Amino acid sequence: MEYSSIEKRKQEHIELCLNKNIQTKNTSLYEDIVLLHRAIPNIDKNKIDLTVDFLGKKINYPFVIEAMTGGCKLANTINKNLAIAAQVLNIPVCVGSQRAMLEDKKQTNSFELKKFAPKIPFLISNIGLVQFCQNQYKTEDINKITNSINADALCIHLNAAQEALQKNGDVNFENGFEILKKIANNSFVPIIVKETGCGIIKEDAYKLAKLSNNISMIDIAGNCGTSFTHIEALRRKDNFGLIFKKWGIPTTISTIECSSCGIPLIASGGVRDGIQCAKLLRLGSDYLGFALPLLKPSLQSPDAVIEKIKKIAEELKITMFLCGAKNIKDFKKTPVVILGKTKNWINNRVKN
Ligand SMILES: Cc1cc2nc3c(=O)[nH]c(=O)nc-3n(C[C@H](O)[C@H](O)[C@H](O)COP(=O)(O)O)c2cc1C
Repeated sequence: MEYSSIEKRKQEHIELCLNKNIQTKNTSLYEDIVLLHRAIPNIDKNKIDLTVDFLGKKINYPFVIEAMTGGCKLANTINKNLAIAAQVLNIPVCVGSQRAMLEDKKQTNSFELKKFAPKIPFLISNIGLVQFCQNQYKTEDINKITNSINADALCIHLNAAQEALQKNGDVNFENGFEILKKIANNSFVPIIVKETGCGIIKEDAYKLAKLSNNISMIDIAGNCGTSFTHIEALRRKDNFGLIFKKWGIPTTISTIECSSCGIPLIASGGVRDGIQCAKLLRLGSDYLGFALPLLKPSLQSPDAVIEKIKKIAEELKITMFLCGAKNIKDFKKTPVVILGKTKNWINNRVKN
């Protein structure tokens, strides 16, 4: 695909995210997850520790700045501000799909986040699986993508629903698992496999976790936040595909589905506050990812991004305090009640 059409699409994604309500209006099912209040927390809130290990590095919060952009008009500002914020907060940050820079080398600039912030603890590269399935890129060339921006990990994104709604989208995912295995085995850096807003179920998560030793993490990116099916339908003159705007597995359910797959999990897709973060951690995720909530702040300044993330961190800390957990490890063992549709889902899945 030509760079100019990728650039136009990327720019439209950002504009639609800024100007339209493209968040899934599906029930998030967060209401089914009840964390239990402790009248005597038995800990000092000021001593709560949010630090965790992320692929061998200590980070200050269990948070990841999710993939958004690169190679379009606003990308420099967005990525620069995200990079500086990630460095100050000491958390990982992922670039948007590097397809734009593979089609036009001049676009590499806006993906080089370490130029803006050399001490980012973890820079994550990003590219879609389907373009490898369609032979647009070669699995042997995978390290060029990460080397070009000196990345510490590579995120391979899965976006079947988004591609299916684009006119002439890339929809041949044949041999997807085999090709992903080749990518992972050829890659010098660890692989994170990521959805883009439709979630992942346990059959796929278990298969992914066993596919290659280098597949080190799954980002479920469930259906509850940014809806790329909605965005792609709005980009079309005929608005074809609007019926798919709620398509996918809710973030809470997808987290439960993937929680025992054997490799760490990022829960993302509609994670908007600290109580939601806590619920997803309790359901089995190890990290939380945010994209849309950081888009507007990233157009303002690094401080605006930092403020947004610190607010969520403080909410998470208060939730942990009220559940009597002094760190993330302890919090994951606190009592929880699962009700309603989520309970039904779990019971019906067991019978399958
Ligand atoms: C403007 C925008 C652009 C995005 N571009 C990419 C991308 O290039 N690659 C990718 O893997 N995910 C991309 N995503 C998806 C996010 O990384 C994330 O998985 C998804 O938006 C769910 O999180 P959210 O509800 O917090 O936005 C993008 C999201 C947004 C909002």
